[in-house]
Amino acid sequence: MNKALTNDQLTQWDHDHFFHASTHLAQFARHDISNRIITDAKGVYITDREGKRSLDAFAGLYCVNVGYGHAEIADAIAEQAHELAYYHSYAGHGTEASITLSRMIAERAPEGMNHVYYGMSGSDANETNIKLVWYYNNVLGRPEKKKIISRWRGYHGSGLMTGSLTGLDLFHRKFDLPLAGVLHTEAPYFYRRPDRDMDEAAFTADCVAKLEALIAREGADTIAAFIGEPVLGTGGIVPPPEGYWPAIQEVLDRHDILLIADEVVTGFGRLGTMMGSDHYGIRPDLMTIAKGLTSAYAPLSGSVVSDKVWAVLEQGTDEFGPFGHGWTYSAHPIGAAAGVANLKLLDRLDLVANAGSVGAYLNSAMQEALGDHAHVGEVRGAGMLCAVELVKDREDRAFFDAGDKVGPRVVAAMLERGVIARAMPQGDILGFAPPFLLTKEEANIVVAATRDAVAEVLG
Ligand SMILES: Cc1ncc(COP(=O)(O)O)c(C=O)c1O
Repeated sequence: MNKALTNDQLTQWDHDHFFHASTHLAQFARHDISNRIITDAKGVYITDREGKRSLDAFAGLYCVNVGYGHAEIADAIAEQAHELAYYHSYAGHGTEASITLSRMIAERAPEGMNHVYYGMSGSDANETNIKLVWYYNNVLGRPEKKKIISRWRGYHGSGLMTGSLTGLDLFHRKFDLPLAGVLHTEAPYFYRRPDRDMDEAAFTADCVAKLEALIAREGADTIAAFIGEPVLGTGGIVPPPEGYWPAIQEVLDRHDILLIADEVVTGFGRLGTMMGSDHYGIRPDLMTIAKGLTSAYAPLSGSVVSDKVWAVLEQGTDEFGPFGHGWTYSAHPIGAAAGVANLKLLDRLDLVANAGSVGAYLNSAMQEALGDHAHVGEVRGAGMLCAVELVKDREDRAFFDAGDKVGPRVVAAMLERGVIARAMPQGDILGFAPPFLLTKEEANIVVAATRDAVAEVLG
């Protein structure tokens, strides 16, 4: 920390010059919303410049999976920076770190996924995946087979294509998105099923029927891929209904539509299994990884390619020449070194198992504390992911008026109690995605803060 700078000085510069992500810019400029300057962190706690400590029950943006402040990842980054801060990955170049990490990812990916292309963010990895899918169909002589199906409430990033795939209004409105060629289908959101008499199996059948109808309307020969998160994340932390993934996979296989599993949130342990695909028996053709790959100690993402797609990419370069897709920072050695150290730590501390067991505890304790509240529609989750959906009326599942900002007010009341949760962007949904090393005692702190904050705001 630079002690020569006062908090007031930094705050002034912040409001004057820093264009923050996902922020109400006018309110920030008017100082209607305050800034928070984070200085250090350890385990599940972060500390700001005013000395306030908070239990981070969202692991940053569900990315600091191993928790904050691990010296062995920091040391690996420092060593790499001293030895070789950068070299590129074009034309067969690489580093020990990027090669070792590729091997480690292939060992942890579903069977038959053996090649990794690196980027810096989940968004650019999904952009890569869409380009791979288009290239794949061009090589196979199917230039019409290009549309991509995503789900309402899916989140796949903020780029032009990935922002289009994202199925949330906030990310489309006034940005002229979605782009042509992107189709959205039903979200597997059991709580908000159209007919409350449907059980999970009937709702799964409804999602499948809607997908089939979309494919029939557009023509399977125009549809290249389906992209989905094993558990919907930013769209509300929604695990799929029973039987959903095998049923969707069957439809895609029948129509020769590739499946992209967006594992940016679920990859590397968040559901208590190495990949979300393992949890639900998904067999992806392409997989998107980011956050948990380095636990955000350095920016790094990846597109993991199945052997089936890889064979066509090889064929394509034999026919058309080198693959014309590259980022300067692809496989950046500092990110790769962080990834290697992070995955080793995940194993050494047995954190995937901890995410499963303490995650289950967090979910059941949350259910017990809040499940019967008059304004809690549903408590749901999977592994170390949990959500509390707040409603105006439990009977008809009515939302509060967006202007009432119920979710953000509860989250603010939680922060007063020293716990960070996230008000998810569509609907009053409180999201929890703590670091995997959360203990049961810390889970109890999260649950108590949630219960008390909900009581303060909603009675
Ligand atoms: C499932 C999923 N995919 C993609 C992304 C985009 O990742 P990034 O913000 O690193 O671009 C996110 C980010 O939260 C995500 O949750």
